[in-house]
Amino acid sequence: MVHHIQVGLTIFIFVVSALSFWGSLRSANPYGRHMLPGQRNTMPALPAWLLFEAPQFFSFALTFWLSASSPSAAALTLFALWQAHYTYRALIYPLRMRDRHKRFPIASVIFGILFNGINGFINGYAVAHAPHLMNAAWLHDPRFVIGVAVAVAGWLINFQADTILINLRRDGSTGYKVPHGGLFRYVSSANYFGEIVLWCGWALMSFTPAGLSFAVFSTANLLPRALSHHRWYVEHFADYPRERRAIIPGIL
Ligand SMILES: NC(=O)c1ccc[n+]([C@@H]2O[C@H](COP(=O)([O-])OP(=O)(O)OC[C@H]3O[C@@H](n4cnc5c(N)ncnc54)[C@H](OP(=O)(O)O)[C@@H]3O)[C@@H](O)[C@H]2O)c1
Repeated sequence: MVHHIQVGLTIFIFVVSALSFWGSLRSANPYGRHMLPGQRNTMPALPAWLLFEAPQFFSFALTFWLSASSPSAAALTLFALWQAHYTYRALIYPLRMRDRHKRFPIASVIFGILFNGINGFINGYAVAHAPHLMNAAWLHDPRFVIGVAVAVAGWLINFQADTILINLRRDGSTGYKVPHGGLFRYVSSANYFGEIVLWCGWALMSFTPAGLSFAVFSTANLLPRALSHHRWYVEHFADYPRERRAIIPGIL
């Protein structure tokens, strides 16, 4: 029964990815610089990020520990990486944000809580049950080894880009500046590029449909948003570096 629910929800994430890609190409999700003027039904951004990212942490942990009878080293590695990332994303990242007056739409918070709760559940369940992850040989499988390397590289790129953006407001300002350094040399959304690389690495190392669904969702969600960010930079900064792409160095 739980297995069928997990499969159904994984298919649901693929469907949401397609809808999200189509919707985000038409208009950017209205938060941050894409917030609509006079937008109503918003809440402070700091508790918003805590609220909607936390289900990834709790839902994954609860499902994993309730389902895994004797987790393998590979499953425990995946568990540790997921929890480490969401300790950062749900707790440390919101506390690092400098602009304490920023608002966030309540509708997006509700969507985030539901989506992230489902995503934590399907991935926690997949990691606890996938037969290949129970096998000690998976730790030496090239998919696992390369997946770990790609995920860690993506996480480092994302963390460095987050840090560069946060430091742009170190002087107490609240507006936007042109980011420099790290992969911002090549793309406008180095943070999104790192995030997509991270979840592609996770999909490879876990090798489950649930892992793949989150890599597909992250790409479907962040790629169109990066195109919107890039257009916004070009429109607002006359001296914006011409060689810089939106999200994929040298390509897009
Ligand atoms: N896996 C997923 O599907 C997913 C989805 C969403 C986000 N994320 C991750 O969550 C993190 C935040 O995402 P986001 O959409 O908020 O990213 P973002 O639009 O790039 O903004 C990140 C932070 O930096 C600030 N900022 C951005 N550009 C700036 C500039 N040029 N000058 C000064 N400050 C600037 C933003 O302020 P403002 O709020 O004032 O714009 C915000 O606080 C990223 O690392 C992203 O990868 C992941």
